[in-house]
Amino acid sequence: MVRSFHALLGMAAGLLLAAPGAIAQPSVPANGGTLQIHAGKPVAKVSPTLYGLMTEEINHSYDGGIYAELVRNRAFQDSPRHPVDWVVWEHGDGQASMQIDHSTGPSSALASSLKLTVQKADANDAAGIANSGYWGIPLRANTEYSGSFYAKVSDGGSGPVEMRLVNDDTGEVVAKASVPALTNEWKQYKVRLHTGQIQTSARNHLALSVSQPGTVWFSLVSLFPPTYKNTPNGNRIDLMEKLDAMHPAFLRLPGGNYLEGNHLADWYNWKKTIGPLVDRPTHPSPWNYHSSDGMGLLEFLEWCEDLHMQPVLAVYAGYSLQHEHVNPGSDLNSYVQSALDEIEYVIGGPQTKWGAVRAKDGHPAPFPLTYVEIGNEDWFDTSGSYDARFAQFFDAIRKAYPQLKLIATTPVKSRTPDVIDDHFYRTAQEMFADTHHYDKTSRTGPKIFVGEWATREGSPTPNMGAALADAAWMTGLERNSDLVVMSSYAPLLTNVNPGAMQWAPDLIGYDAVRSYGSPSYYAQAMFSKNLGTEVVDSTLQNGGPLLFYSVTEDKAKHELYLKVVNASSEQQRLQIQIDGAAGVKANAAVELLSGHTMEETNSLENPSRIVPVTSSTHAAKSFQRTFPPYSVEVMTIGFE
Ligand code: AHR
Repeated sequence: MVRSFHALLGMAAGLLLAAPGAIAQPSVPANGGTLQIHAGKPVAKVSPTLYGLMTEEINHSYDGGIYAELVRNRAFQDSPRHPVDWVVWEHGDGQASMQIDHSTGPSSALASSLKLTVQKADANDAAGIANSGYWGIPLRANTEYSGSFYAKVSDGGSGPVEMRLVNDDTGEVVAKASVPALTNEWKQYKVRLHTGQIQTSARNHLALSVSQPGTVWFSLVSLFPPTYKNTPNGNRIDLMEKLDAMHPAFLRLPGGNYLEGNHLADWYNWKKTIGPLVDRPTHPSPWNYHSSDGMGLLEFLEWCEDLHMQPVLAVYAGYSLQHEHVNPGSDLNSYVQSALDEIEYVIGGPQTKWGAVRAKDGHPAPFPLTYVEIGNEDWFDTSGSYDARFAQFFDAIRKAYPQLKLIATTPVKSRTPDVIDDHFYRTAQEMFADTHHYDKTSRTGPKIFVGEWATREGSPTPNMGAALADAAWMTGLERNSDLVVMSSYAPLLTNVNPGAMQWAPDLIGYDAVRSYGSPSYYAQAMFSKNLGTEVVDSTLQNGGPLLFYSVTEDKAKHELYLKVVNASSEQQRLQIQIDGAAGVKANAAVELLSGHTMEETNSLENPSRIVPVTSSTHAAKSFQRTFPPYSVEVMTIGFE
């Protein structure tokens, strides 16, 4: 996927690319274009929801990602045969064996468990099980961790059970807590573990051990670090902060392919993702690993609430990835009802059936909801059933909730959707060439949601070339945001450990301890932070190759936002002329993201190689500005 710098330049030279109104020809010198901005002459409204987030369980986005749980395969459901990600833990002369036991579990949802048979153990030689989390268990100094597990013992009772956090390299127990005794009934036990003066590291494991022979069954073994806003069962702080800095307006949830599942039986059945964790059966994700469903529907909604985003709720519409579909008509009725129930869970008052369930789950107040998406990428359904499936959902939801706007995942004839969801996964060259994609689209049809888009260059996260193409693409979205009401890059997150990622590139990368934003992440944050309320009339003459721009304004704030993307290897100078304003403030704020090459990028080891740099510059009704090679710049220009 990654194209060489020279190859890209070669391709670029052959393209006639420019922002609207520009006449870009290879023969025109790179320097010396004129950008005329007509302040106070809006040509279109900017959608306040233009920039948002798309999310799904892919690349260990939730488990091993933003969902802060540290224990992997905590409920022993990832494989029906083996306790994957668990090992027997024997200290000294302790001896034990373990297996999955399908005859007992703490709930009907978790009907199986881990059976630990301890042949030999005493106070000095304990035996038990251990887990290394998602590529390590990250521990920090002087921090409290919340541990818990369900357990029962064979007749007679047993105890104590010790939960220890052990350094992989030294064997040092860096934190421990103990439960005095178990009974022969399933019960949840909770402990708190405190670390001391340790080095931050993921090279740790969790061990649960007993100090006498016997049989112990375990389920839902959990360990949480402090979470964002201290929410129980909550999210990882660094990733939430990174997302917050993007100022996202919405979260498209729960997928993506994750909504559909591989087969009909694997569909995202939201009812199995709510309530106490012990009542969530977990389910296979289409991205080749099992989902704990700790990030369930309510957690998605609380994530939205925490970051002041509105949910864009995708409901399963009867199509799964292996080209299986539910026939429209009576076969589909239960899925339509599930969608209606789901919407009620989100927006119903506590007096409604599903609103009451949400209240019982801990959130009496309804959530805001404007958009409901019916399915995902149904253009893959070659049976042609989507039109009728869409109509069935559309009619039922419209009747029950006329205020909601309904999104189709591909054009349909049977009904007129409010919005169509378009997806674009492209090379940089393709992105540069298509920044005018929506310029001529009819304004009388459905609005557009660009629900997934990305320049697919760079791995695991986009490089500078991709960021430039992404930014160029965003100038086109922004210019057309009277039509394009929402857009979201995908995928959003990836755990960068070997074997964790299924799809590249992804906007934000992390391991158990560290995280970083890609150059594209920063470009998006810059655009989103400086959105404006109206697109301003503007013309560019003699803009050089690979120069893209967008101008918006916020009249109430008396600010113009000029975004310029110079994707060429040469600096480019523009004469910027602003008319329609009584005056222009002499100092403009500048945020600049730039790289030396298209391949340059950020990583865990070098997270800040390409980050926005803020400064200020002289501005006037007419002024010159030089845009460095490979740069994305946002200028905030005050005017009267
Ligand atoms: O973003 C990755 C995948 O791409 C999504 O799950 C799917 O909707 C699309 O095909």
